Amino acid sequence: MLLSRFRERKPLFSQQDLVNLRWFWDSYLKSKSIWLLVVLGTILIQGAAYQQFLALTKSGLNVIFENGNAWELVRVCVIVFLLFSVRGLMSYLNPRLSVWLASNAVLQMREDMISHLMRLDLSFFERTKSGEIILRMVNQAQALSLFVGQATVNAVRDAVTVIMVAAYLIYLSPQLFMASMIIMPFIIFLMLMVSEHIKMVQASAENAMGNYMTGIEEMAGGMRTVKISNQEPGESSRLRKSAQSIRDLSIRLQAAQATVLPFIDLASAVAFVLVIGGGGYMALSPAYELDGAGVITFLFGLVLLFTPARRVAQFFTKLQANLILLEGVHSLFRETPTITDAPDAITDFDVTGDIVLHDVAFRYSENAPLFDGINMTFKGGKTTAIVGSTGSGKTTILSLVARLYNVDGGQITIGGQPIEKIGIRALREAFSVVAQDIVIFNSSIWENIRYVRPDASEDAIWEAAEQAAIAELIQQRGNKPVGPKGAQLSGGQKQRIAIARAFLRSAPILMLDEATSALDQRTEQHVQDTLTKLGESKTAIVVSHRLSSVAHADWIYVMESGQVIEEGTHADLVENDGLYASMYAAQKQGYK
Ligand SMILES: Nc1ncnc2c1ncn2[C@@H]1O[C@H](COP(=O)(O)OP(=O)(O)OP(=O)(O)O)[C@@H](O)[C@H]1O
Ligand SMILES: [Mg+2]
Repeated sequence: MLLSRFRERKPLFSQQDLVNLRWFWDSYLKSKSIWLLVVLGTILIQGAAYQQFLALTKSGLNVIFENGNAWELVRVCVIVFLLFSVRGLMSYLNPRLSVWLASNAVLQMREDMISHLMRLDLSFFERTKSGEIILRMVNQAQALSLFVGQATVNAVRDAVTVIMVAAYLIYLSPQLFMASMIIMPFIIFLMLMVSEHIKMVQASAENAMGNYMTGIEEMAGGMRTVKISNQEPGESSRLRKSAQSIRDLSIRLQAAQATVLPFIDLASAVAFVLVIGGGGYMALSPAYELDGAGVITFLFGLVLLFTPARRVAQFFTKLQANLILLEGVHSLFRETPTITDAPDAITDFDVTGDIVLHDVAFRYSENAPLFDGINMTFKGGKTTAIVGSTGSGKTTILSLVARLYNVDGGQITIGGQPIEKIGIRALREAFSVVAQDIVIFNSSIWENIRYVRPDASEDAIWEAAEQAAIAELIQQRGNKPVGPKGAQLSGGQKQRIAIARAFLRSAPILMLDEATSALDQRTEQHVQDTLTKLGESKTAIVVSHRLSSVAHADWIYVMESGQVIEEGTHADLVENDGLYASMYAAQKQGYK
């Protein structure tokens, strides 16, 4: 039964593992082959030192047993000392070099990960847990660095030691060597058995770690909600559960890796018994050439051999776990961006031209179509408003125009040019945006505004801050960071930072998504006036629930569940007596 299970086992390396290893080698190690050879050189010298040591031990013993010359003994001692000095020097050079190599390889890999991540679509970040990204970029990359720089190099050194010492032992007595290795096939069989199990446990452990990290991130970011809804116990039990499953899996992993070790010790016991018994018999019997010194040297060699052999075996179990980490890292690279520059992308286009959606179809997920052939025109140099019920797709229209997502059908053109033909940087350069969900970084307000145009002059930043009515706050707060995600600011203050950013960018196309919804009436009036001025010479798209702030627009679209249900000027729409007119009437009522 054991044999049939063995046959069902997957090989030590799956096809994917081989692809991953190949990728890692080609991308990060191949270019350093010369240095790897130097590392290998230091390893070979270490191995050779061991082998010579054994040979010398034998001659030393021969001197003792056969009444040789005392000077001979001194010579042996000096050479042994020198050999260990050489080995010592290599023990210094080898890790220095290998850690340097591995750290650089992993740095390069991390840099590649960072730039790859920047190229990925927004939708990737909307479906991937932040903990999973952090896990790959931080833990897995770090663990791989250690594995390549230390575990692998040590394993190669140990393997070289094993091979060299074994070669010498075979030379001493092939029969004894065969006898001492009698249990080897069993050990290899055992390692194959546990390897798949190790991989499975490691994969679950990585998963658990990713969940734990995501959980921490969500908890820390959402503390206000956690506290206000009394969910501290719920949160802590959720995190505790994740932490416990990490512990359980670490123990299981260690247990699986440790399975091999007792058998190796057992194997060494068998080997020693056979060598002492068999070797002793051979030394006593005149039929064999082996003498007492030979048997003692052989035993000594076995002692030297077993420690590294044990570590090589351990390395294979660690390798299995690290193959899973490698797969984790490589899988990130297999994510391909779909929003990329066309090969013949242009950077020059008419930014002041009309923005037109021709029969645009779009859905966020397979089974939930949002737009099914929508047509809209945002006239160049004019202000167009989009109003409509919540979830009707207003923000999505802005996202599509900025090509944060690709359309599934139809086309969006700016000045007659399809946006897929425009280089992404050039396209996005054309927009100033005040988004509905404002992102504030943990730096000063000043730095937050400057974020959208790092080369802006101080005057320009002050000017933008004035326009957005945030200058006073900058003076009050100075350079103090505003807390993670701007936690130390009020909603309206955050919104004004976003508006200041739009002023600073002052790009030809202005997109305002509920840009003033969080401001008090007086501030809103002020900001609204400056925004209207900003939009005067530009193509402006304004999304707002407050109809009073879009009444001045040159054209208004009214949306309802992914469709345009009315359009026209404010006067047309009020006259039409449709949804807009009723919304307007209701809002006016509210102000009375
Ligand atoms: N990133 C996303 N992934 C999946 N579905 C999304 C995503 N963003 C929005 N949706 C869905 O698409 C629809 C339109 O969303 P959108 O944000 O465009 O609405 P909206 O008109 O801007 O609403 P609101 O007035 O509330 O801001 C909604 O049903 C929403 O649930
Ligand atoms: Mg919206």
